[in-house]
Amino acid sequence: MTGGQTGWIPRRQCLAALSRVLLKGESLTTALAEETRDLPSREAAWSRALAYAAMRWYIRLEAMVDAMLDRPLKPRDAVIRVLLCQGLAEIFHFGTPDHAAVRETAELARTVQRPGAVGLVNALLRRALREREQLAAVMDRNAATRYACPSWLIKGIRDAFPDQWESVLQASTEPAPMTLRVNLARSSREDLAARLEEGGLAAEPHPLVPSALTLAAAVDVQDLPGFAEGLVSVQDAAAQWAALLLAPQPEDRVLDACAAPGGKTGHLLECAGGELDLLALDVDGGRLGRVRENLRRLHYHARLAVGDLSDPEAWWDGRPFDAILLDVPCSATGVIRRHPDIKLLRRQGDIPDLAVRQRELLTAAWGLLRPGGRLLYATCSLLRAENEAVVAAWLGDNPDAQVCDPGFPGGIDREVGRAIALGTRDMDGFYYALLEHEG
Ligand SMILES: C[S@@+](CC[C@H](N)C(=O)[O-])C[C@H]1O[C@@H](n2cnc3c(N)ncnc32)[C@H](O)[C@@H]1O
Repeated sequence: MTGGQTGWIPRRQCLAALSRVLLKGESLTTALAEETRDLPSREAAWSRALAYAAMRWYIRLEAMVDAMLDRPLKPRDAVIRVLLCQGLAEIFHFGTPDHAAVRETAELARTVQRPGAVGLVNALLRRALREREQLAAVMDRNAATRYACPSWLIKGIRDAFPDQWESVLQASTEPAPMTLRVNLARSSREDLAARLEEGGLAAEPHPLVPSALTLAAAVDVQDLPGFAEGLVSVQDAAAQWAALLLAPQPEDRVLDACAAPGGKTGHLLECAGGELDLLALDVDGGRLGRVRENLRRLHYHARLAVGDLSDPEAWWDGRPFDAILLDVPCSATGVIRRHPDIKLLRRQGDIPDLAVRQRELLTAAWGLLRPGGRLLYATCSLLRAENEAVVAAWLGDNPDAQVCDPGFPGGIDREVGRAIALGTRDMDGFYYALLEHEG
């Protein structure tokens, strides 16, 4: 999508959404959903695409603004900073013709009602056009501004992927593909691809994941042939390993311990043709509603429970599970392509707290597994601290746990489990450790 073809209303809504994220700490998904709700669909899509481009590159764009300002902006002018970054995003990352990017951003500056805003936006964006190459060269000098990523996160990514850290960071700046999961219990991947093609949608089979198809271009899910009937769902290929690795068998008693919004719940059921005794648990009742919607579309059944995994007395009938999927809450750094606001909102100090919680959840889930049963610990984090460090430390206190080899292709062996580097065959970053209860 390129800029210049639209007027100031989608730009204004984009600025409103970016301001909610950057100045109030709200999530981009929520802010954009609300700010673009009343726009015609084409303008809403344009507004969202610009917001994503700006958010993906924000750290670099903000550094450009700082490099060009003679004196720092006052805190009360923070919205001008956001607007300048939005204008620079149009110039550098959105394909808006130069004159349109400057003119339209300056026009928008009138609405922010800060003295001097229009002149400043005009002057600074024109300077960015004149000094385009020099500015880019300065920004490329260090990794944080080259890849628009906070330094603490770059350090964690380098530590986790010493040989791939630059390709991971490169991938983190690119739009994510729209990947589909075919319900192989009801359709072959070839048949589904043929149906998509009949509907004018090109899709490639994913080379590493047997249920995955990658669309050549993103579309509205409602326009996907087979979506309403539950033949196909939207899910990143790396996320599809979860159900494939746990591989529940028909009639197994399975706990999806952190289930919402239910992407993996549906896949667990698909793997067993719907014949599972599955309990989908989540502490967040609102999010659990989305599991219900997903299952209704897939025509599968599971019991749903709102509850805290650490407090099983409130929701558990005391009968141990054969298999448990533990997809813990995490930094979500493996999905920063899809949620670039994570780079701005997540703090380094969050990670130790998350790791403590992850270990507590692992302990709680383990107590619900039968001897001989299997538990899959999963995160969409790139960081060792939330992945193998959690599981390895926990194993020290749990000699009844046996580590199984989750040997799937495309992963990197860890001290315990396997990690998928963000960008490997265009997948999100994930981590899996498969544990068996020796009883
Ligand atoms: C990474 S998300 C799960 C994504 C989900 N498995 C999927 O594939 O769609 C983590 C989930 O854990 C839930 N959660 C966090 N703490 C929990 C707890 N103590 N007990 C149960 N669920 C919890 C969150 O509400 C969130 O929905």
